[in-house]
Amino acid sequence: MKVHNFGAGPSILPREVIEQSAAGVLNFNDSGMSILEISHRSELFEKVLNEAISLVRELLNVPENYHVLFLSGGASFHFTMVPQNLMKTKAAYVESGVWAKKAIKESQLFGDTKVIASSADKNFTYLPAIENIPADADYLHCTSNNTIYGSQMKSFPVTTIPLVCDMSSDFLSRPVDVSQFGMIYAGAQKNVGPSGTSIVIIRNDLLDNYKPNTPTILRYKTHVDANSLYNTPPVFAIYTCMLTLRWLKKLGGLKAMEAINNKKAELLYNALESNSLFNLPVAKADRSYMNVVFTIDDKEKEKAFLDFCKSKNIVGIKGHKSVGGFRASIYNALPIDSVQFLVDAIAEFTAQ
Ligand SMILES: Cc1ncc(COP(=O)(O)O)c(C=O)c1O
Repeated sequence: MKVHNFGAGPSILPREVIEQSAAGVLNFNDSGMSILEISHRSELFEKVLNEAISLVRELLNVPENYHVLFLSGGASFHFTMVPQNLMKTKAAYVESGVWAKKAIKESQLFGDTKVIASSADKNFTYLPAIENIPADADYLHCTSNNTIYGSQMKSFPVTTIPLVCDMSSDFLSRPVDVSQFGMIYAGAQKNVGPSGTSIVIIRNDLLDNYKPNTPTILRYKTHVDANSLYNTPPVFAIYTCMLTLRWLKKLGGLKAMEAINNKKAELLYNALESNSLFNLPVAKADRSYMNVVFTIDDKEKEKAFLDFCKSKNIVGIKGHKSVGGFRASIYNALPIDSVQFLVDAIAEFTAQ
């Protein structure tokens, strides 16, 4: 049964990655053991981890003075780790959606947290201008892609203070200049792998800024010193991430990925824009190329469209409960054929 998976995360992964990781569950690299039963301290796994780290470095052209980590748990851990590790007295935040709000709430537990830009006034349907960044803040935190509201930063502010970015839902979907950031973090379960791990890229000079009572396991420095092996890491999740990273490299890297993602997004946005039944609530310049949010005014028609999609094995397009409507997540692994299938379904439904 062919399913078109537009889920927001955990989400679609490349078919060949699923097949390779399934093979690794049965017999990992001809070791006679499953990836599920090898030691994280074994040479077998260290090779996987080191390949994953070096592929992230290669794909994103990560400068020498940054470290790449694969840690346990999702992006939400960094909402609390970031202020504990980087805030001396004051932090600045951009409030551009639900995830940003959660990050702000955690930061408030640890010190002076200034929300310097917000789009809460219009239910996060645009990205707020980032101006007047306080020079005395220890960092500025932003969210590159707002998974729930469907907005995405197309460029990043130039600051004198470290820029910290939650890239969970558009990590590795396009090239970014890592040297613009003090730190990048992302949960794996959108573009990179299964849930259970998150990826961190952090600049060397920020590692010693943690607050004195920060628990050992919550210090980035601990994980840098242990090459992500301070405690047992999520072995299987990291293995699958490594396979996805290989797939990305084979595809031609992030420039090639970006070109495909742009095509997919344009195909879907053009179809929705030219169709009067559907609305696109997000300001055009800020639309996400990963999560396409759209609505229908008529509640009955909204339900009918969801049922119609279900009948065609189009799954995961119900909008987040805080927004309603629909959300088609078109992450890296979603083939353009699936986007075309949705576009055809939209046309067929409209013509009924
Ligand atoms: C942008 C963003 N940040 C953070 C999170 C939270 O991630 P996790 O569930 O891995 O903690 C999500 C989850 O969807 C997200 O989309």
